[in-house]
Amino acid sequence: MPTASPPDLDLPAGVEVIPVLDFGGQYAQLIARRVREAGAFSVLLAPDTPIETLARLSPRGIILSGGPASVSGGDAPKCDERLFELNVPVLGICYGMQLGCQILGCRVAGAESREFGRARLTIAKGEGMLADVPRQTTVWMSHGDQVHDLDEDFELLASTDTCPSAAVRHKRVPFYGVQFHPEVTHTPHGIDMLRNFIYQICRCEGTWRMSDFLVAECDRIRERVGSERVICGLSGGVDSSVVAALLARAIGDQLTCIFVDNGLLRKNERELVEATFRDHFDIDLRVVDARVEFLTDLAGVTDPQEKRRLIGHRFIDVFQKSAAEVGTVRFLAQGTLYPDVIESGHGHAGVSANIKLHHNVGGLPEDLGFELIEPLRNLFKDEVRKLGEVLGLPDQIVWRHPFPGPGLAVRVLGSITEDGLALLRDCDEILLEEIIANNLYRSTDQVFAVLLPVQSVGVMGDGRTYESVVAVRAVETQDFMTADWARIPFDVLATVSNRMINEVKGVNRVVYDISSKPPATIEWE
Ligand code: XMP
Repeated sequence: MPTASPPDLDLPAGVEVIPVLDFGGQYAQLIARRVREAGAFSVLLAPDTPIETLARLSPRGIILSGGPASVSGGDAPKCDERLFELNVPVLGICYGMQLGCQILGCRVAGAESREFGRARLTIAKGEGMLADVPRQTTVWMSHGDQVHDLDEDFELLASTDTCPSAAVRHKRVPFYGVQFHPEVTHTPHGIDMLRNFIYQICRCEGTWRMSDFLVAECDRIRERVGSERVICGLSGGVDSSVVAALLARAIGDQLTCIFVDNGLLRKNERELVEATFRDHFDIDLRVVDARVEFLTDLAGVTDPQEKRRLIGHRFIDVFQKSAAEVGTVRFLAQGTLYPDVIESGHGHAGVSANIKLHHNVGGLPEDLGFELIEPLRNLFKDEVRKLGEVLGLPDQIVWRHPFPGPGLAVRVLGSITEDGLALLRDCDEILLEEIIANNLYRSTDQVFAVLLPVQSVGVMGDGRTYESVVAVRAVETQDFMTADWARIPFDVLATVSNRMINEVKGVNRVVYDISSKPPATIEWE
């Protein structure tokens, strides 16, 4: 997968590529994704990638991302100072702008007032990157430093009230800098600006497609795997299914897929996955029943991170044992996505905070015993779905709501019991039935039930009850990094609540979660 090492990228000839040098900004991968959306290929590369390595990619342009450091700080990440010798257009965003301007002779220092959030941009010169953008427009700022005393070699393109040099262009070197973030949706014309950079300035034609990614990725996997065997943990979710289909395409019968029944699955999940994959794939699929092992590990454990850690370790243990039965297996393929990577604090420059220890990133034991293949590591969920369609996976899989690796373990809050799991499975089934019946499955991105570790008082018939509370969670999101709670119609919620309380023994109260992410997360644990 195209991450750090460009010689491995192995791009087909003629692919238009605009790499992003990652200075640790939280939006770095979003920039790469915006470029891919516009039809040029992009990947994140280490900030100090030497120009010889960059030159081998024949980039149409290069983007320098934002980042949390200060360019004048001692340990500030730097790019190769000879970057401009490549003579390809370079766009610096936020920290990237400050770094480019500093290399080209400007002074960068703290701004009089730090700027976070929306700002009004006034455009002095509406051409190049800013062509066809209204002269007054909103942009998203997030910076403490800024460029001062623009060198006379620079042309000022736009300003905000507190940032006089908000967009600049060098007169001789093809360098463009913007202090704001065009890649986020809070900058309404940001995409237009990036497209201007990609099409007008880098002269791309926008010919890159997901099918090119598939071809390149298959080649890379074939070359890396050679004649070795690969196992793939198949969960039935879209990510691992896409990985399995991709690997099946790349290496055929060198692949064995392992589906682990960990006792934390939704109702009929195991049967559904088995049936679907036997119908659609010609692969060696092995189903391992490890319910006892997982539930024994988790007995009495209440801490969510500890649950993830135990599950992650047990998964690997089960894989290792199953792999031993397959023969000599060198590689393990996983459906790790970019949001998993970044939220586990494993970003390129290692800066993002560790929000959740996602089991397939942070929870791997060191003595893994396999080399990892993670072909989706740089992709966002919607890009993975696109790839799934290109691979010809059925809609039923491509559009499946995601289900977390630790499964119901992070939806039975607190201690996990067989009874709790059974109750939650029944509630979850009712919820999904109603969501599908009311045509809400495609307009929502993730819907599930959560069993709360509290009992509440109720009244049924003429008697007092003291039973469980179930929360309904439904979110709408683009990339699962931010999400809003879905406005499910009240009458649907009413039916769900009625059915859960009437049909599932042990539930006497249903609540609806109206928190967005951030500050909440999608899962409750
Ligand atoms: P959060 O709760 O972090 O969820 O807002 C974002 C997306 O990630 C899924 N998720 C996980 N997936 N292992 C996974 O494979 C995990 O430990 C995990 N935790 C959350 C979650 O379901 C949502 O789609």
